Amino acid sequence: MTQPEAGEWNQTAALRDRLPAGWRRHARQAHLDLIEQWIGTPRGRWLKTDLYEELSPHRALLPCLGGSWIGMDVSTAVAAGVKPRVSRITVGDVRRLPFRDGAFDGVLSTSTLDHFDEPHGITLALAELRRILLPSGCLLLTLDNRSNPAIRLRNALPKAAQMATRLVPFPTGVTLSDQTGRIALAEAGFTVAQVGYLLHAPHIVGTRLAHLRWYERAMLPRLDQLMHTRLGRYSAHYVAFLCYADGAGVAR
Ligand SMILES: C[S@@+](CC[C@H](N)C(=O)[O-])C[C@H]1O[C@@H](n2cnc3c(N)ncnc32)[C@H](O)[C@@H]1O
Repeated sequence: MTQPEAGEWNQTAALRDRLPAGWRRHARQAHLDLIEQWIGTPRGRWLKTDLYEELSPHRALLPCLGGSWIGMDVSTAVAAGVKPRVSRITVGDVRRLPFRDGAFDGVLSTSTLDHFDEPHGITLALAELRRILLPSGCLLLTLDNRSNPAIRLRNALPKAAQMATRLVPFPTGVTLSDQTGRIALAEAGFTVAQVGYLLHAPHIVGTRLAHLRWYERAMLPRLDQLMHTRLGRYSAHYVAFLCYADGAGVAR
């Protein structure tokens, strides 16, 4: 990552969150439920590939997770901002990880890899994630869901239009679907054990309505039931993958 790119993320760290706390709480719970279902309590040494959620008390995942974690982010401003909530922090780029081979039992990567301009960025990052995992290690990866038409449309807009409309407060990039994600993970040497679909409220409107308490409590969980239907792979904000560095975990 060049210095201006890292600088862009430093600026993002200072922005006010425009989405309601109700949406953030719901999204955090959906992530925690998935981690519980797929991993349970993380055992051994784990890496989280960015710390953006940990900037906010309504979003932070690491304080809710057991196990031994290192949090990393490319942005020095994000790293500085999460100090009260995260004890072990490293500044680094997920495409050039500052860790030795086989240093981790697990990696949690929540929508870090979907901000690169070139598809090669995802390829580089997946290769690095596999390198730093033990042979028995696992990766829980989420990406903006390319099969969601609203995400596809948003990402197709020129960057200037994305920022002007404030659809997203930060740069979007190339992302993958469940099918292309499976291929990219297999090419990086991972064995995919599970694919899931996370957060189904209609994009933009569905997130902003979460300032209403009844909507947060009653409607958001109901909308997430879409994950069990055929529509789920198109309505999800994120596609999620559980995969293993050597495939051994698939039979566990
Ligand atoms: C917009 S956030 C999205 C991810 C966040 N986990 C979420 O779900 O909202 C992107 C975060 O990833 C960090 N980031 C961007 N590129 C990165 C890279 N190459 N390596 C590590 N962190 C990166 C940014 O500094 C920022 O904190």
